[in-house]
Amino acid sequence: MNISMNPNSELNQSIVNVPNLVQVPDPLIKQAYQFQEAMMMYTCAIRELKTKLEVLNDELSVRNSRNPIELVKSRVKKPISIVEKLQRRGLPVSLESMMENLDDVAGIRVICSFLDDIYAVAEMLTRQDDVHIIAIKDYIRHPKANGYRSYHMIVEIPVFFSDQKKWMRVEVQIRTIAMDFWASLDHQLKYKKEVEANSEEISTELRECAEVIANTDERMLNIRKKIEAQEIAISK
Ligand code: GTP
Ligand code: MG
Repeated sequence: MNISMNPNSELNQSIVNVPNLVQVPDPLIKQAYQFQEAMMMYTCAIRELKTKLEVLNDELSVRNSRNPIELVKSRVKKPISIVEKLQRRGLPVSLESMMENLDDVAGIRVICSFLDDIYAVAEMLTRQDDVHIIAIKDYIRHPKANGYRSYHMIVEIPVFFSDQKKWMRVEVQIRTIAMDFWASLDHQLKYKKEVEANSEEISTELRECAEVIANTDERMLNIRKKIEAQEIAISK
């Protein structure tokens, strides 16, 4: 794919001279453009997948008179986090290596109202023939030892650019509002106070909170089902 460039750019020279500042070697400039273009592609993949989720939410909200999806958040991984992750895994730090090895450069978080909405959304995405499922991790049926719960999907979707169709990978995390509450605070605590958050006592407390939350999610789902059953009984 062509890299869009300013026609006045000095990329044709072997060295680009920035007056009185630094000399930026040509290959570095080229790499920077290629990186920027890759990030644009991931951003487009996020947009496409978000549209799919919006369509599903609109359809289901008309059919069931409630929104299964509360909120969709997204992000493209920061360059520093990309480099750190590649280094941590002992992989080459390059554009090709990033696109081949990292599944979470583009990330979408789908916050659902109820537990069963998570599986409904995941199933509907799976049924779409232009969504390729690369991997699934069900941390709801199999929570992590620390109590973390979410449904993770690595998917590939086609994105159509001017001169090519590119299959782009996106990490989709689907969770309830309650699971998101726990995961957000868990992340904050670990990020800000690493030492204390690693202590046995705190780990146990966090895990217990996750269990209370999981239990509450199940109770809320049961309440909804009871109300729905009453509604059906009344309408008959
Ligand atoms: P990463 O190297 O972190 O991407 O992990 P992974 O490749 O083994 O994938 P995994 O599916 O386990 O986790 C991916 C993402 O899920 C993380 O980047 C977090 O956003 C989220 N996640 C996983 N475990 C936890 C956890 O214990 N706490 C919180 N708050 N988030 C988690
Ligand atoms: Mg990650």
